Amino acid sequence: MSELGRLEDLPADYVRQLRELNLVPLWPSLRAVLPPGKPRPATKPTFWSYEALRPLLLKAGELTPMQKAERRVLVLANPGHGLDNMKASAAIYLGMQLLLPGEWAPSHRHTPNAVRMIVEGEGAYTTVDGEKCPMSRGDLILTPTGLWHEHGHDGTEPVVWLDVLDLPIVYYLEASYAVEGQRQPVKSGRGDQAYARAGVVPTPVFQRSDRRYPMLRYPWADARAALLSLAADQPALEAVQVTYVNPETGGDAENILGFYALMLRPGQTLQLPARSPACVFHVIEGGADVAIDGHAFTLAEADTCCAPGYTPVTLRNRRADAPSFVFMADESPLHRKLGVYEVRA
Ligand SMILES: [Fe+2]
Repeated sequence: MSELGRLEDLPADYVRQLRELNLVPLWPSLRAVLPPGKPRPATKPTFWSYEALRPLLLKAGELTPMQKAERRVLVLANPGHGLDNMKASAAIYLGMQLLLPGEWAPSHRHTPNAVRMIVEGEGAYTTVDGEKCPMSRGDLILTPTGLWHEHGHDGTEPVVWLDVLDLPIVYYLEASYAVEGQRQPVKSGRGDQAYARAGVVPTPVFQRSDRRYPMLRYPWADARAALLSLAADQPALEAVQVTYVNPETGGDAENILGFYALMLRPGQTLQLPARSPACVFHVIEGGADVAIDGHAFTLAEADTCCAPGYTPVTLRNRRADAPSFVFMADESPLHRKLGVYEVRA
């Protein structure tokens, strides 16, 4: 590929004339915006230890009352993007959120989509669109774009969860905003029971639900049981993995980011191919060694790491005698919609 002319090669007076007319020559920047063969991601393989961040998150509970925080979160920021930009990858935001007993994080709704993966503690709940979703370790709770949500805590110990949002991409599109609201009236019934068994969906008087987000809470007990049955039924299956889907359509649970649970068999090493989307790994149970492009991370329970796109990832179960369980989030739905999704051998 031939060298292109640089900005410095042009007469300063010419460049100044261009800039006065809001014009820029393309060729000095062409290779940067269209690099040969493969993107040059700002996203760096990055690891966040739960053991290291937990005391700092609890300290935030002492330093900053809820009224001064609204959402008490430490953002898991990727240094490749600049910490203050609060990105784990180009499209993914990650935050560890703390709610103390008796606290309430007020109702709001916003354009970015969010999910919460519960990390520790019992007794908290998220009310989403009037549905009260209890929060237990490993549960996945959706708060999709535009739906009211608030968090409360009736338990006795701190509750921590991992927030995963598509905030960076929605913000980049200049489409990010929030609306404050009143405390939501809670509807009767537990929404997560309506789709508790795969293969059947509710059809009162032959009517299918037309809700865009029919399922808001995905209990970990169910996802874990699904992985164990899959592993038992398909002993030759290399990757024991499930995707969190809209149970009415089978499509992705949310529009922009994808969410998955993976079971590593005892002692298993799993190679994931290089794919275009960036991906986040969070250990729900057990532990995993993760190798990403020359970086090696040891993930214990509740630890999190991220991998840039176009990069193969190797996961190894640290337990020889028991399975380990990993939650994953990636940018696949967005890449597929944009037509840029790729898997490389
Ligand atoms: Fe929110």
